[in-house]
Amino acid sequence: MGIFPEHDRRLKAQLVKRLSLKPNMRVLDLGCGRGAALSQLIEAVTDTGSITAIDRDQDSLDFMQTHFSNRLETKTLQTAQVDFRCLPLPYSTDYFDSILCHNVIGSIIDKPALLDECYRILKPGGKLLLSHHDFDTATYN
Ligand SMILES: C[S@@+](CC[C@H](N)C(=O)[O-])C[C@H]1O[C@@H](n2cnc3c(N)ncnc32)[C@H](O)[C@@H]1O
Repeated sequence: MGIFPEHDRRLKAQLVKRLSLKPNMRVLDLGCGRGAALSQLIEAVTDTGSITAIDRDQDSLDFMQTHFSNRLETKTLQTAQVDFRCLPLPYSTDYFDSILCHNVIGSIIDKPALLDECYRILKPGGKLLLSHHDFDTATYN
């Protein structure tokens, strides 16, 4: 959560809404950080869907695992430490219905390679929501 938690919560709600998630869906939170979007993602896919949250930062994953321990127990949430510079990602082709990638792509050097990988692991017709804060204009693109 950022320094403006209410703003961050509303922004994440907007992003999740744009994914048009439904129960049963399998969603990847790519670069999940401390899991600021997780509550809304979990709510959208309900108990019948699943969220996979990955990041390279173990401290963030530890924080998230503490806060979402009940979801980890029910297997509706899985987490993994993954570095996006090491491709392929450890998921099979056509695996996810949707991918959320917020405020991550800016720090990735080989952006096309990661986008190609997202395409591979998304099901046909799946949705990638890629957004990033534009620090110059303080808007989101
Ligand atoms: C600004 S945070 C955004 C976190 C979350 N998506 C959110 O919106 O709150 C960027 C995240 O991307 C992760 N990240 C950056 N480069 C990465 C890489 N090469 N592999 C895995 N994670 C990476 C960082 O560890 C960090 O948690």
